Amino acid sequence: MRIDIITVLPELMESPFQASILKRAQEKGLVEVYFHQLRDFSTNKYKQIDDTPYGGGAGMVMMIEPIDKCISKLKSEREYDEIIYLTPDGETLNQKIANNLSIKENLIFLCGHYKGIDQRVRELHITKEISIGDFVLTGGELAACVLADSIIRLIPGVIGDEQSALTDSFQDNLLSPPIFTRPEVYKDLEVPKILLSGNFAKIEEWRHEQAVEITTKKRPDLLEN
Ligand code: ADE
Repeated sequence: MRIDIITVLPELMESPFQASILKRAQEKGLVEVYFHQLRDFSTNKYKQIDDTPYGGGAGMVMMIEPIDKCISKLKSEREYDEIIYLTPDGETLNQKIANNLSIKENLIFLCGHYKGIDQRVRELHITKEISIGDFVLTGGELAACVLADSIIRLIPGVIGDEQSALTDSFQDNLLSPPIFTRPEVYKDLEVPKILLSGNFAKIEEWRHEQAVEITTKKRPDLLEN
């Protein structure tokens, strides 16, 4: 997979890709991530990429020209499966969206700032709009990092134990069951006996029951779908 990220603040995004699983995924050649500084596509001598809104109002609007130039250049080099704009008015990210995106070849993430982007960019290039939740961030950068992390960890080979991504919370619309590790007893707190039984069929059954119980209690909405 290849992810091209268009941003005015690449420095805000670099460290999540330089540690742990996301770093290893790149080293293994399972994903390539490229940052594109939007200001490099400004035709203005001050490298301006935003302007005041037509019709008046507060805040600045990201101009169409630098974004179009950047996306058009990328599109001339390869085909993209999705061109995603991170925005609070997009579809709310969930595991199903992450699963679908994890099997794509080439993705562009466009990070917005200020009041957002000129509407014509959406009409011209954007194929998908994603929000990471009903709150407003200072820009799309942190949302793009969240989206990238949720996708990259699902690419086969990225997580060592192949099973581990498949047994995540949300994978079957169920939250994960409780987990324990050594010691067996800590300050009178005991690990459930079933997990020490060695009976793996029974353990799986118990885990499923726990997952259903926890989901019913914490997120009944997940069971309605
Ligand atoms: N940009 C600002 N807030 C955002 C959010 N909640 N999700 C995605 N992009 C954003």
